[in-house]
Amino acid sequence: MTAPAGLPLESDAIVKLAARSMFELFSNLAQGMMLVDRAGRVVWINEAYKKFLPALGFDRVEDFVGRPVEEVVPNTLMRHVIESGKPILVDLLSNKAGTFVVSRIPLRDEAGEVIGALGMVLFDHPETTLQPLIAKFATLQRDLDEARKALAQQRRTKYTLASFIGSSPAVLEVKRQARRAAQSGATVLLLGETGTGKELLAHAIHAGSARAERPFISVNLAAVPETLLESEFFGVAPGAYTGAERKGRDGKFRLADGGTLFLDEIGDMPLALQAKLLRALQEQEFEPLGSNKVIKVDVRVIAATSRDLRKLVAEERFREDLYYRLNVLPIRLPALRERIADLEALAENLLESIAIRTGMPQRELAPSALAALAAYRWPGNVRELRNVLEQAAMLTDNQRLSEADFAAILPGPPTAPVEDDSAPQSLRPLPQLIAEIERNSIESALAATRGNKASAAKLLGISRATLYERLATLKRLSA
Ligand SMILES: Nc1ncnc2c1ncn2[C@@H]1O[C@H](COP(=O)(O)OP(=O)(O)OP(=O)(O)O)[C@@H](O)[C@H]1O
Ligand SMILES: [Mg+2]
Repeated sequence: MTAPAGLPLESDAIVKLAARSMFELFSNLAQGMMLVDRAGRVVWINEAYKKFLPALGFDRVEDFVGRPVEEVVPNTLMRHVIESGKPILVDLLSNKAGTFVVSRIPLRDEAGEVIGALGMVLFDHPETTLQPLIAKFATLQRDLDEARKALAQQRRTKYTLASFIGSSPAVLEVKRQARRAAQSGATVLLLGETGTGKELLAHAIHAGSARAERPFISVNLAAVPETLLESEFFGVAPGAYTGAERKGRDGKFRLADGGTLFLDEIGDMPLALQAKLLRALQEQEFEPLGSNKVIKVDVRVIAATSRDLRKLVAEERFREDLYYRLNVLPIRLPALRERIADLEALAENLLESIAIRTGMPQRELAPSALAALAAYRWPGNVRELRNVLEQAAMLTDNQRLSEADFAAILPGPPTAPVEDDSAPQSLRPLPQLIAEIERNSIESALAATRGNKASAAKLLGISRATLYERLATLKRLSA
């Protein structure tokens, strides 16, 4: 066998020669080279590398060589290359010395063990040599920063404790507890009837906490269909499903990382998911659907419910361990009828926001109107008050709303005996009557099924989705 001219015969020698040639080529081409050992210490730099030392803050080679590489080269990934055993062939490295195009290659011994790594600066001043690429990179980076900022802004809460109106002793106590909760970072459980301001308070606690600049993410457990809840919480790994979910999706736990996760209507959580939630809360980690990779997060949970959780526990429809895990800092929001002293301030505030939204002058309440409102039970609490005021403002142009302006709106027994038989009190606008019948039927069905929405929907002969949709509408109209 004849070898090609000038090349040695055995393959070992060829490889060695090739390696040496490559090394020489690169060391001539590169703007600088360094070697680090298995422990990540710089063991050698070439002549050309020395020109970077002043910008990195070193006068003498002896002060640089021998030190752990990340101490002398900020943002370097050399240690990562040693640990992973994988090269990073082209990368941009930015630090106080500038931006560089670099290449990092692991070095292995005969047995294949990583014994260190070789780092090369391929281009210094890439901003001139690689202008188009760098410009594109900078634009993308800027767009990304802006998108992140906009998202964070959007997720930031709109409400602070000051927007929780009221100065009755019950409210002052709630605010005191909320302030403490904001400082503590512990799990908070907000209890109270519908419309008492649980969601508002959750926002305020987040806004007053150390996490205020991070996301506030809500999940309404009553509004998400049971089959979707798990993926909603924990996300889906890429490739776990075909179709729209093919790329995977982050769950709310992930989105809330560093911030607050608001679990609204926690009493409606299906039992099967409660165990998973408990684990996520305790360990601050979870696995997305279709993945066995554990994701670690740092999430503060605020849960809310208008249902009697202790009763649900007794009925074995809510896990006792989860209840105790959530019940660290319970805050009970008083019903409006328990703090009727706040009615005037609340009405004033709500009338102002109605005026701003409708662009109409702000209305006032006559003392007779205030008295009528104060006598009412307010099962829908502040939300109901808001709706009643809105309706009254729509029905009349009076600047000052009187008792008469509310007579047709406030539900309940007729306030005055009917004098003229030709207009029975029960004769009211049809849409109002229909809405009332609907609400009453839904309420009875929910009561009969002890809040179980699936069974209630069955009783009413409508789908679960329709029930949720009707509930949402009624909640909006609630009056
Ligand atoms: N103290 C308050 N000050 C001002 N507005 C309030 C107050 N409490 C509630 N509201 C307003 O009443 C409405 C209902 O409040 P929110 O949605 O927070 O109630 P909730 O307790 O979460 O009710 P649900 O249990 O039905 O979800 C909102 O428009 C909210 O801004
Ligand atoms: Mg709510």
